[in-house]
Amino acid sequence: MPAGHPGMSPARPLIEFRQVSLRFGAEILYESIDLDVREGELLCILGPSGCGKSTALRVLAGLLPVDGGTVTIDGESPEQRWRDMAFVFQNPRLLAWRTAKQNVTLGLELRQLGLGRAAMESRADDLLRLVGLAADSEKYPRMLSGGERQRVSLARALAVEPRIILMDEPFSALDPSTRRRMRNELVEIWQRTGKTIVFVTHDIDEALELADRIVLLSPKPTRVVETMTVADARPRAIGTSPSLAMLRDRILAGFHDAPADLGADAAPGEAVT
Ligand SMILES: Nc1ncnc2c1ncn2[C@@H]1O[C@H](COP(=O)(O)OP(=O)(O)O)[C@@H](O)[C@H]1O
Ligand SMILES: [Mg+2]
Repeated sequence: MPAGHPGMSPARPLIEFRQVSLRFGAEILYESIDLDVREGELLCILGPSGCGKSTALRVLAGLLPVDGGTVTIDGESPEQRWRDMAFVFQNPRLLAWRTAKQNVTLGLELRQLGLGRAAMESRADDLLRLVGLAADSEKYPRMLSGGERQRVSLARALAVEPRIILMDEPFSALDPSTRRRMRNELVEIWQRTGKTIVFVTHDIDEALELADRIVLLSPKPTRVVETMTVADARPRAIGTSPSLAMLRDRILAGFHDAPADLGADAAPGEAVT
């Protein structure tokens, strides 16, 4: 458990999928999915392209009903608890005509949390500082790099003070060195804020670097292959840690001949708003 992190309750998980089944027309996506997310943890959902990772986040956010089984957030349905969650997507989805700060306040305006302008702006300033953009708050998205835009998107998610942040391959469009830096920053921000993060990726090393636990999904029809705990202290160095190398082998074995990168993100998740 990271330093300064509030206790993870060993009791009831914050999020529970129980025997969840889902189909699109005649096609079965999930036969029976069980998974738990504990309060305060950084959980990675790892699986090949098209296995239903983005769909799992849509289900969690109450955007898509399931056909069988139950999904609960703190014992209630996703439809009841959508306000507990905020999204970060692969595409940062910033409004071009709004500054970084105005993009961060947008979520607050939309959720009508009853904050005055000054309070919203002050919260946005704090969060832009947290994500390392204190000096860029008046810039428009076109004036920011890909990594900076993604930081704005994270600040926007944090602004509504969600209990849970849902992240859908948020770094996969960034160049490798920015991606590495963003992962480190995410871990720091997570440790400082104590949020529960559900992070979807098809990148094995990304999951190994970030996760408290990894839920490994099979190709369709999708089931949970294995849930593994990553106990290594952070920051982690994938190349030099024997325990991470072992986990990596175990994941690869779960996919037989799958490449280390399990495939590009499928488009449908990107249609979610
Ligand atoms: N609304 C939909 N209607 C029909 N098929 C869908 C819909 N949403 C997703 N799918 C299909 O479900 C599968 C899983 O999609 P998705 O969750 O986006 O996968 P992943 O994010 O793991 O790449 C894909 O085969 C996709 O085409
Ligand atoms: Mg996806």
